[in-house]
Amino acid sequence: MNELRLAVVRGSGREQVSELLDRLIEFTRRHFASEERLMEQSGFPGAAEHRAQHQSLLAQMLYSAHRIQYGEGVEISSFLCSLRDWFTDHIEGLDRQYGPWLNQHGIS
Ligand SMILES: [Fe+2]
Repeated sequence: MNELRLAVVRGSGREQVSELLDRLIEFTRRHFASEERLMEQSGFPGAAEHRAQHQSLLAQMLYSAHRIQYGEGVEISSFLCSLRDWFTDHIEGLDRQYGPWLNQHGIS
C-alpha cells in the first residue's frame, strides 16, 4: 500500500499504478488464504464468517481496482483511504478474535 501511495503521490502513470494494484490484490489474496488455512486447521468456530469478510473485501478491491484501471472515475487516493479503513477494521475486529484460539490450539 505504501508503494502504491508513493506511486500516486509521484504522479506515476496508470500502467505502473495498475501493476502495483495487481500486486497488492495478489498479496492480499495469499495472505487471506493462509489465514483461512490456519483457521480451518485449528477448527476455529468463526472461520466461515471470517472467510466471508475476506471475500467481501477482495470483491470490493477487485471492483475498485477494475474501475481505476479502466479510468472509470474512481479516485485512487480515496480508494487507498477506504482500503486502509477496511484493513484496520478487519485487523482490529475479526483478526483479533482468532489469535487467542490459535495459541490455545498450539498453532503459531
Ligand atoms: Fe483476516
